Amino acid sequence: MKTRVYKQTDLKQKLVQEDIKQTLLNGHNVIFPTETVYGIGAYTMSEKGISSIYTIKGRPSDNPLILHLSTNEDMDKYIKEKKDYVDALIDAYWPGPMTLVFKMSEIVPKNITGGLDTVGIRVPGSDIAREIIDIAGVPICAPSANISGRPSSTLFKHVLEDFEDKVDIIIDGGKSQIGLESTVIDVTGDIPIVLRPGMITTQMIKDVVGDVKISKALEKDDIPKAPGMKYRHYAPKGNLQIVEGETSKVVRYIQEQIKHHKLLNQSVGVIVTKEIADLFDIDHISVIGTENNEAEIASNLFLVLREMDHNQVDFIYSLSFHDGIYGEAIMNRLYKAASQNIKKL
Ligand code: TXA
Ligand code: MG
Repeated sequence: MKTRVYKQTDLKQKLVQEDIKQTLLNGHNVIFPTETVYGIGAYTMSEKGISSIYTIKGRPSDNPLILHLSTNEDMDKYIKEKKDYVDALIDAYWPGPMTLVFKMSEIVPKNITGGLDTVGIRVPGSDIAREIIDIAGVPICAPSANISGRPSSTLFKHVLEDFEDKVDIIIDGGKSQIGLESTVIDVTGDIPIVLRPGMITTQMIKDVVGDVKISKALEKDDIPKAPGMKYRHYAPKGNLQIVEGETSKVVRYIQEQIKHHKLLNQSVGVIVTKEIADLFDIDHISVIGTENNEAEIASNLFLVLREMDHNQVDFIYSLSFHDGIYGEAIMNRLYKAASQNIKKL
């Protein structure tokens, strides 16, 4: 198969629109950008398109897919009930990086829900993502466009790395603006529960609905409510360790580790902020952003993890980024990427 690549400007052409629509309706896959990360899409009602997503990604079949809509107008047909507080969340944060998990209606196909009786729905904030859904004229299921276990794709080149000539169409939308996947919120109960943290922060949910819980599974190793959270995730190929503590101690520790690995002729890389990048004498250094710009750090996280793979780094040391309102979302991914390998100083 030879992948066809389109840019946003191509979407105005009738032939391109028709190609995208027919590809999806015929049970094939289209990868498209969203404001969070790239998604690999299939027509929700196409058994073939959905099963192909699981096969191509190597995704476990009990991990459900998010249903993407271009507006919330006809959302009600996919859900069984909507709690009173949900409209306030929708008004505040859709279109945007928020997925809501509802009890599903009868028309939702079972092969997208991983055996659950709920469905996750999102109206993406990015114009291009909504344009694709409108062109298709049908709801689109789309998990992140990465081979299962690998960091999500935030650049067109990541998508090519994982899926060139494995899907029919890829839309090149440049760099994902946010860079972390949507906040997943269970809204089946009287109080919303955050299943996966994201840019719609717990505080932002609280501001709108007054009360919110964090899934216990995020705090300790419990049976996760978002099945996707239990798998090894975002992992670079090398051995990643997160180093936490006072900056001077962290720097000293990482410098010592670099020396140690160099002595053993092992390849080593670091993920640090611009402010301290000069302190490391090393080939593989990935600058994730500037210290006080958490949005920048979030947007570069998956990119630097993939950079380490590119450079075939065997041992990776990263700072931690707990500060600020996005710390929760960033560290959720980073800890998973490191399989909880944390050095506290
Ligand atoms: O930002 C995003 O959400 C991106 C873009 C492409 O929209 N999509 C994405 O999909 O991150 P995926 O499949 O990589 O992650 C979806 C997460 C998984 O952890 C999954 O288990 C959870 O959401 N999820 C989906 N449906 C669910 C449901 N019905 N109940 C609980 N968790 C659900
Ligand atoms: Mg994913």
